Amino acid sequence: MPTANGGRTNPLRDPRDKRLPRIAGPCGLVIFGVTGDLSRKKLMPAIYDLANRGLLPPGFALTGFARRDWATEDFGQVVYDAVREHARTPFRQEVWDRLAEGLRFVQGSFDDDAAFDELERTVRELDEVRGTGGNHAFYLSIPPSAFPVVCKQLARSGLSGSYEDTWRRVVIEKPFGHDLESAKELNAIVNEVFPEDSVFRIDHYLGKETVQNVLALRFANQLFEPIWNANYVDHVQITMAEDIGLGGRAGYYDGIGAARDVIQNHLLQLLAFTAMEEPTSFSSDELRAEKTKVLKAVKLAQPLDETTARGQYEGGWQGGEEVPGLKEEEGFNPESTTETFAAITCEVENRRWAGVPFYLRTGKRLGRRVTEIAVIFKRAPHLPFDATMTEELGQNAMVIRVQPDEGATIRFGSKVPGNQMEVRDVTMDFGYGNAFTESSPEAYERLILDVLLGEPSLFPVNEEVERSWEILDPVLEHWASLPQGPDGYPAGSWGPDSSAEMLARTGRQWRRP
Ligand code: BG6
Repeated sequence: MPTANGGRTNPLRDPRDKRLPRIAGPCGLVIFGVTGDLSRKKLMPAIYDLANRGLLPPGFALTGFARRDWATEDFGQVVYDAVREHARTPFRQEVWDRLAEGLRFVQGSFDDDAAFDELERTVRELDEVRGTGGNHAFYLSIPPSAFPVVCKQLARSGLSGSYEDTWRRVVIEKPFGHDLESAKELNAIVNEVFPEDSVFRIDHYLGKETVQNVLALRFANQLFEPIWNANYVDHVQITMAEDIGLGGRAGYYDGIGAARDVIQNHLLQLLAFTAMEEPTSFSSDELRAEKTKVLKAVKLAQPLDETTARGQYEGGWQGGEEVPGLKEEEGFNPESTTETFAAITCEVENRRWAGVPFYLRTGKRLGRRVTEIAVIFKRAPHLPFDATMTEELGQNAMVIRVQPDEGATIRFGSKVPGNQMEVRDVTMDFGYGNAFTESSPEAYERLILDVLLGEPSLFPVNEEVERSWEILDPVLEHWASLPQGPDGYPAGSWGPDSSAEMLARTGRQWRRP
């Protein structure tokens, strides 16, 4: 006789209960690029937050490697300031004191053999005094052009090799190349030193609770999956809008642009989560296999001059403040043709999604900061109402709000109170803030912990990275071949006119989130 829970054991009684907190075993982390913004704003605070939550081993060690002429005390001060300014959880002196004992700093440049030898000695000393057990992760928060030299140095100095039951892992920040060819070259160089199962490529969107929740919504419920296909879905809109500009980021961003910065990784991963088939389990192999499979089915809609759009922000008003255009931002080439807005149209060539466009857009200095996945359903095949009664009825939609105001909304039609059968759109809302008392960890907390635990599910494999470049490369080539640069759009708007036109051609329009 089937039981309500399908005959499964009660998880409360299951001795293999997976909900117990996962605590990293003895280990250390070395960060290259420790003086950068990412390290200060995200990595160091995340490490403190993990320590504060009791998820790091007692002897955890954090080593910074950089050119700065710092003593370990100076590095300690930098970490302290970063923690005080950016940590998510409250400051506790005893947690900080314990963490501070495990801080080390090694000064040197990437081509300096002696500095890497010193790093090797430091790591060995940590094994002895902190009990890190020979287990170390190397976090490359550095430009991709420096990956080869750092990987070679790690190999030369003996840092990359693991022995018996110790491990060595490398964590790589995006951008992972600037096109398919360069990504393949980088993968080859990294894999020469670290086997694929020791390589953790960060896409921090996968560390976000709301992104993982796409899988829960789809595969833990009976409600959505039956209609999650071309029979019911009209199209999908994936938006990642930011209100910030690029002041201070010229070194990284000029010549890279929005498509490489965000579509190649975050947005194609969101598409993969939205469109993939159910994995047979949530083991990393199965999950990544399904994502890879769906990415292989993704094709760009053609012709590209009608199905893509790009723009560059111009000066304007945002939040009551006058802001400069990209070309006036410090450090940018005044002739820069770097796009700060990009939109593309993808199709997923399989039975589930045939004919359903997936519109992806991202931009800086847009109306407001919001990331969402909106699944827009087809209209009912027949409406047994007077046409005038359904004038305010739109298409049903399921909107997954990745950030901010994390949650999900369903939009559907409902009768307006009164004597007439008038139907209008209403929404039903789920918000993390109301539904749960726990606050969400930062993406980097989850991902750093997963590296230390050797849990690779939320890290794209090289096949996914290369496939994503393969999808995007034709767009980049197409844009590069055009005589004109990106269209301008005023700061604070929702992008260039060409973006609205891209959807209007198929009779659709972007949501105004
Ligand atoms: C990074 C991009 O990957 O994501 C940045 O390089 C962008 O340009 C950032 O600002 C946005 O991250 P989040 O988590 O604030 O949405």
